[in-house]
Amino acid sequence: MKFKALILAAGKGTRMKSKYPKVIHKVCGKEMINHIICASKNAGVDDIITILGHEAELVKEKLPKDTLIAMQQEQLGTGHAVMMAKEYISDEDTVLILCGDTPLIKEETLKNLFDYHNKNNYHVTVLTTTIENPNGYGRIIRDENSDLLKIVEQKDATEEEKLTKEINSGIYCFNGKSLKESLDLIDNNNAQKEYYLTDTIKIIREKGNKVGAYNGSTIEELMGVNSRIELSKAENIMKLRINESHMINGVTIIDTNSTYIETDVIIGNDTIIYPNVMLRGNTQIGCDCVIGQNSNILDSKIGNSTSIESSTLVESIVGENTNIGPYAYLRPNSDIGNNVKIGDFVEVKNAKIEDNSKASHLSYIGDAHVGKDVNIGCGVVFVNYDGKNKYKSVVKNGAFIGSNSNLVAPVTVEENGYVATGSTITKNVPNGALAVAREKQVVKEDWVYRKRIKDKN
Ligand code: UD1
Ligand code: MG
Repeated sequence: MKFKALILAAGKGTRMKSKYPKVIHKVCGKEMINHIICASKNAGVDDIITILGHEAELVKEKLPKDTLIAMQQEQLGTGHAVMMAKEYISDEDTVLILCGDTPLIKEETLKNLFDYHNKNNYHVTVLTTTIENPNGYGRIIRDENSDLLKIVEQKDATEEEKLTKEINSGIYCFNGKSLKESLDLIDNNNAQKEYYLTDTIKIIREKGNKVGAYNGSTIEELMGVNSRIELSKAENIMKLRINESHMINGVTIIDTNSTYIETDVIIGNDTIIYPNVMLRGNTQIGCDCVIGQNSNILDSKIGNSTSIESSTLVESIVGENTNIGPYAYLRPNSDIGNNVKIGDFVEVKNAKIEDNSKASHLSYIGDAHVGKDVNIGCGVVFVNYDGKNKYKSVVKNGAFIGSNSNLVAPVTVEENGYVATGSTITKNVPNGALAVAREKQVVKEDWVYRKRIKDKN
């Protein structure tokens, strides 16, 4: 016996007005379908089966590698969609059925549905909720004992049935055998000429098996995303949910409305996040950090007690007690050590900068290895590109690079080497040596006064 999730995602999503299938649009950095896969896995599901149709290849690319895939070429209804996955369902399985466009469903709700289904020995359990305006949803029809009788789609409902405010969420737990047997018996004699999955309920009950309705959800959680407006609503709900989970874990978020943290980001406690911050991808931030306003951090790892202010970091590593910014740009593969300062308008790319080093202002450090206790003056450029190829510079421990110097790669400044300000360094600087590579200053006494006299005549 296995617990399997079956996710219906063959539809086109016309109202998104997109060239991409609906379920791969992202909410807080993760595709909608992957939110549902994560919630299902966290609820204890063993296997994930997705039913794909429209632009299936584009969806497949985004799915975890272990996802099973069934194809539905023509969208003939939710019941027909599930039929396409029959080969993956064994009689003994418990099958959780969900839709690919409800990214806000919570793992607790799925767990509760599963427990309720098992405890009561139901052959199918429908997740429901009660709402003021049930327009558009399938209605839950109960018998005189309040037991589930059937589900009626809005378009097929009588006026009396339409008054029912308990609606079908589109999420169910099925016994594998009952699911397969009842699917064989559904037809498309209804208002939409579709094979309705919802018709299986009545069929299973009429066979003498127990069917249940678990009213254990909220409409917010069940919200389907059909348009960009709904996508944005889902994004806002998810954003606040993520922010609250970090606050519960001990992170201070000054303005939760303007703080955008994607799903997989990890943040240590006593870190403070200021307004307008974006933390994206697989970013990890340590404890006691300060992430200042307007910082944008993607796929980066930041150690404890580090401060980042108004800076952009992409695929980079930053150590502990380090200060970045304001207005620094760490491009991919920047590896910054502990107690380092990367100040305003400093750009770093594919460079390792070791502990206690400083580049306080206006530098470009690209394709480099900078050792410990190095000082990089204002306006230093690591000249790494000759128009064809990129070359590497090495600046060893204790070196000092004077302001406004160019290090023309490939070049090495050995330990404690000292580059005089304004130098263009094209040859290696030996250990402890001073390198001056600029024109000597020429002073012409009284030149200005002599010129003025000459100009008058
Ligand atoms: C369905 C339910 C309805 C419920 C509602 C909740 C049926 C008949 N009705 O209606 O009771 O209240 O969901 O949102 O099931 N899909 C396919 N292949 C198909 C048809 C649909 O993969 O052939 C997918 C869609 O992409 C979508 C999901 O199944 O993700 C639901 O289909 P949709 O047409 O939106 O069903 P509703 O009419 O909303
Ligand atoms: Mg729908």
